Amino acid sequence: MSKNYKWGIIGTGRISNIFIEGLQSLEKAESYAVASRSQASADDFAKKWSIKHAYGSYEDLYKDPDIDIVYIATPISSHHRDTLNALEAGKHVLCEKAFALNADQAQEMIQVARDEELFLMEAMWNRFQPWYEKATEILDENLLGELYHLKADLSFQFPFDPKHRLFDPSLGGGCLLDLGVYPIALSSLFMGPPASIACTANLCPTGVDDQVSMIFTHENGATSELGCSSRYNTNQIASLHGSKGFLEIHGLIGRPERLVLHQNGQAPVIHETPYEFNGYQYEAQAVMDMLDSKEIEHPRMPLDETFQTMAVMDYIRENIGVLYPGEIQ
Ligand SMILES: NC(=O)c1ccc[n+]([C@@H]2O[C@H](COP(=O)([O-])OP(=O)(O)OC[C@H]3O[C@@H](n4cnc5c(N)ncnc54)[C@H](OP(=O)(O)O)[C@@H]3O)[C@@H](O)[C@H]2O)c1
Repeated sequence: MSKNYKWGIIGTGRISNIFIEGLQSLEKAESYAVASRSQASADDFAKKWSIKHAYGSYEDLYKDPDIDIVYIATPISSHHRDTLNALEAGKHVLCEKAFALNADQAQEMIQVARDEELFLMEAMWNRFQPWYEKATEILDENLLGELYHLKADLSFQFPFDPKHRLFDPSLGGGCLLDLGVYPIALSSLFMGPPASIACTANLCPTGVDDQVSMIFTHENGATSELGCSSRYNTNQIASLHGSKGFLEIHGLIGRPERLVLHQNGQAPVIHETPYEFNGYQYEAQAVMDMLDSKEIEHPRMPLDETFQTMAVMDYIRENIGVLYPGEIQ
């Protein structure tokens, strides 16, 4: 019989309030504890979501011996420290994207998880939703033929606020790490790693990127045309182009609800891929499934791929001139 898992939530911000809703739809997951930098926020969150334990510091949550899995939902600048602290306390970890500020941090997090034989995964939630299986099936059936090109842009217009984590360099601000990580992960999934990268960006007054355009060339000559911005909105449709046709991935890149297959010379075929609840429960279930099987990495979101994505984003940041405090020029 597989066991139930006690989850601890780190941070009481926006995504914690969304993730927990998905988590609470899962039979095997117990929303057991929450931690905040302030006891009052932890208490409010615990009350809102009927959570038994509310801790006024993250350290107190890590010390709770009953917690199996920690979900890290702090600003990107804190992921490295928070993940290491949770792992060193013997907890399995699901860490929000972007996984870390840079590849060096990611490498250390991965090494500690492997050394301690604890589960660790970047919360790339869209890989665990129904559209993924359908897209994989379409590719496995070779309905697109040889893949030549991917187009993906995840952008949202967001008013500039120097104190918001999206724009504050000390919190790991910039649209590349916050939004660009999705199109880059999509490119990695379908096209593999880039062999070369061309990129350009606009920087906002705080010195981080608020618009990035990227062209990846892959080893076989295929290309990915990727973008992200907090200055404009897009239709949130990604497309994958091959010798036999193209596939549109509709909906937010975070939660695609529909695929449209256009095969050369044929009428488009729509595949609805609706998600249940708010779509965040799939990644949480995936973590528990791996723990049931005594696995410490998920093959659908391998740590080596997360590391590769961080290295790609390091390269882009170096090219567009975005460094975070503490990074050496
Ligand atoms: N998967 C998705 O769809 C998705 C969507 C949005 C965001 N995210 C990711 O989730 C993470 C959190 O994003 P969010 O939108 O939830 O951010 P948010 O609303 O600002 O919440 C972040 C939380 O982190 C804690 N925190 C720790 N140190 C902090 C600091 N120095 N300044 C501010 N807050 C601090 C705070 O909780 P306490 O005060 O309780 O300690 C805060 O509420 C980011 O990595 C982001 O990229 C993922």
